[in-house]
Amino acid sequence: MCYSVASVQPPQLPSVYPIAQAAFPDWSFKAFSEEAQRPRYTMRMAMRCVSGEREVLGFSLLWSAPDEVHILNIASAPVWRRKGIGQVLLEDALSLARREGALQMILEVRASNTPAIALYTKAGFLEIGRRKRYYRAPVEDAIVFAREIEHVGQVVER
Ligand SMILES: CC(C)(COP(=O)(O)OP(=O)(O)OC[C@H]1O[C@@H](n2cnc3c(N)ncnc32)[C@H](O)[C@@H]1OP(=O)(O)O)[C@@H](O)C(=O)NCCC(=O)NCCS
Repeated sequence: MCYSVASVQPPQLPSVYPIAQAAFPDWSFKAFSEEAQRPRYTMRMAMRCVSGEREVLGFSLLWSAPDEVHILNIASAPVWRRKGIGQVLLEDALSLARREGALQMILEVRASNTPAIALYTKAGFLEIGRRKRYYRAPVEDAIVFAREIEHVGQVVER
């Protein structure tokens, strides 16, 4: 299988939105599009290439803060789950963080979100705290995960 990951351009938002909607049903297309285009936000999409055609299989939404990259969302299309797409998107996010010279990657996840927690733990993220009643509908705690970004042999200019 050939996968590629690229930044989402505004005309591509409608092809990515069904994946967002399947994972986060309350997210309107308007809010999704606005977030994708905010300053310092990057939306990336994972695609498979079959006979020259590209099919979007998942996306991530990242926010670059000084020294940190936050993963705001990551989702794979329901039929493509457990096939490595989440890992591809996470590796891509880590590469972006390295390129930006970030020192750590950070994210929040619902305490009951077993697949996402397993994904982040497998990728070396560690729990660094909890935010009580952070999520609504349903109300739930967030677990905060972080991972240091290695810069082996790379000079980070500040
Ligand atoms: C979380 C999510 C992005 C994972 O994506 P994915 O493409 O299925 O993940 P991958 O196939 O790359 O899985 C990588 C590893 O994560 C872990 N993992 C992923 N899904 C899992 C599950 N349902 N149960 C247990 N472990 C799981 C496994 O360790 C897996 O490695 P393995 O298959 O070799 O055992 C996906 O379930 C999803 O889109 N969920 C809905 C949106 C969401 O909750 N996003 C997180 C917001 S913070």
